[in-house]
Order: sequence, then C-alpha cells, then structure tokens
Amino acid sequence: MSRKWFLILYFILAIFLVSCTKQNQKENELQGQNVVHFRYAENQPVDYPTTQAAYYFADQVRKKSNGRIEIEVFYDAKLGDEKSVIEQMRFGAIDFARVSLSPLAEFSKSLNVLQLPYLYRNAEHMWKVLDGNIGDEFLASVQSSGLVGLSWFDAGARSFYNSVRPIHTLEDMKGLRIRVQESQLMMDMITALGANPTAMAYGEVYSSLQTGVIDGAENNWPSYEATRHFEVAKYFLDDEHTRIPEMQIVSKIIWDNFSDEDQDIIKECALESAKVERQLWAEKVKVSKATVLNNGVIVTELSNEEKQKFQEATAPLSTQFATKYRPMIERIKATF
Ligand code: GCU
Repeated sequence: MSRKWFLILYFILAIFLVSCTKQNQKENELQGQNVVHFRYAENQPVDYPTTQAAYYFADQVRKKSNGRIEIEVFYDAKLGDEKSVIEQMRFGAIDFARVSLSPLAEFSKSLNVLQLPYLYRNAEHMWKVLDGNIGDEFLASVQSSGLVGLSWFDAGARSFYNSVRPIHTLEDMKGLRIRVQESQLMMDMITALGANPTAMAYGEVYSSLQTGVIDGAENNWPSYEATRHFEVAKYFLDDEHTRIPEMQIVSKIIWDNFSDEDQDIIKECALESAKVERQLWAEKVKVSKATVLNNGVIVTELSNEEKQKFQEATAPLSTQFATKYRPMIERIKATF
C-alpha cells in the first residue's frame, strides 16, 4: 500500500474511533454517570477456577463502584497468550489480567525466586510465604515492570506428563522433549533433568503433543484435564517439582489514573476474588484428578531416593537464577 493511501486510511480510522468514543461518553452522560470500561485477560476456559474468580472480581468491582467501573473478562486467551498480554499491559493496552509467575518472571526477574523447583515444603508453606510480608513485597516488586500486583491465585503443584513412557527414575527423563512455559528458568530446569526443553504458549501444547513435535509437558491437575492433554500424553509422573503461584495484575498506567478510593475498591475485590479462587481450586483439583484417572491416565511416583536425585539435579538453578536473592531464599525457608 502506498504511503498516501496508508495515511488516508489511518485518518479515516482515527476519526471513526474518536466518534465512537464520543458516542459512548454521550450515552453514559445521558444516564447521569460516567462508566469506564476495562479489559481483563485470562487464558483459561470459562469454567476454570481462575476465570470464575475473574468474573467474581468484575462483579464486585461493579457493585462497589456503583456501576462506574465495568470490567469485561476475556477468557480462553482471547486477548493473546500470557507473554503478549504482559507486554501489552506494560503500555496500558490491556488493563487487568491473571497470569502465571513463569512468564511474569521474564519481566520481573526477582520473581524467579518464587518458582524455584522444590522451594516450598508443601502448599501450606507457600501460602504462609505469599500471604505474609514476603508475598506483599513481591506484589509490589512488579511496579518497576509497569504493572501492579493485586493478589495471589492458587495453581497447585506442577508435575510431568508424556506420551512415550511411564517415568520412575531420573534416567527415564533422558532425551524426552518437554514443553515448558516461556521462562528461561523452566528451560534450564528441563536441561538439568537430562531432557530437552521447548518453550511454547499454553494454547499450542495440545496439537504439539498430538503431532509429536514434543513428547510431554508439565502442569497441574486442573490444567492437564481442562486442556485435555491427558488424551495425548497419558503417563503422568506425580512429582510436584514446582509450585508456581499466579498473580492478578493491573497495568500501572491504568492504575495510576484511578482515584485513591477506586484503588481501594479494586484492591479489596482482588483479595476477595483470590479467596474465592482458592476454594474453587481445591474442589477443581479433586474433580480433575478423578476425571483423568477415569480416562486411563497412568500415574507414577518417585521413590524417595529418586526424588532426591531430581532435587540434586535442579539445585544449581538456585545459584544460577537467585544468587542475588540468597537472603530472600533464606527468609522463605525460615517461614513456618
Ligand atoms: C497453568 C497456568 C496458565 C499457564 C499454563 C502454562 O495452566 O494457569 O496461566 O499459561 O499453566 O503452562 O502455560
């Protein structure tokens, strides 16, 4: 297209967008109030705990702001995969989201600490950490990346699954092509375990397993079930190598435009929606596990000796990704 035509089209589009915005404003003014609209990105399906909690959040914000703040939830990655959603939020193109810490840590490196393999003793330990000062410090830490952390969502523990063989030992991992989230730490974790990593967006995993582009992946029970990965990768190793929490975030550019009163409403509703999510999560784990077992999934576990080998193989990641944060790791370990 010539530059002249490009400019003409550009101006027509700009005039159209301005007139649409004015029309919307007029309608709101006629109703006697200014309603502001926001978009919330979620990459899970509509019935997933995180999506249901997002709807709860949007509802509560609407009620508490007397209808002034309207948040529309776009689930199923309709606004893009997590990495591109985070990128867009930093420039205010998407307002709210719930994302996994793995892709977020690529933008806010200190978050890698919270996703180190075998960091937490169990789920209770992780929640003690996240619900206390450490969690608040990490929520605040994403501000330097153009985001504001609102609350923590549960995503359980992640385990490996593949289409090739049941895994009993570290040796069995050798050579498997395993998909990970778009995170350097996760790529290096797979290499440390003797397998071959491929980073790709969540939405591409099913077809890559089906066509044999990859042999396996890793995730929690609800994701394994909701994505139907169990249909194409039936060997599940219940090893719980990581616990990767999720954050509800808002673009800092958008956040800074809210009044103090509205910021309080949003923060309060985010915390309430996190409570709802955690309850829904606990129920969903049970249902998902039962569903995949009924569908012929073969589950293996590691002996203590083999678990030790997995831990030893991944231990250097802590030096590689978190040497700077050693005092923080000590604080996490000392949290009871
Ligand atoms: C989990 C998480 C998603 C993430 C996905 C992944 O399902 O909830 O937000 O995208 O893992 O493995 O990419």
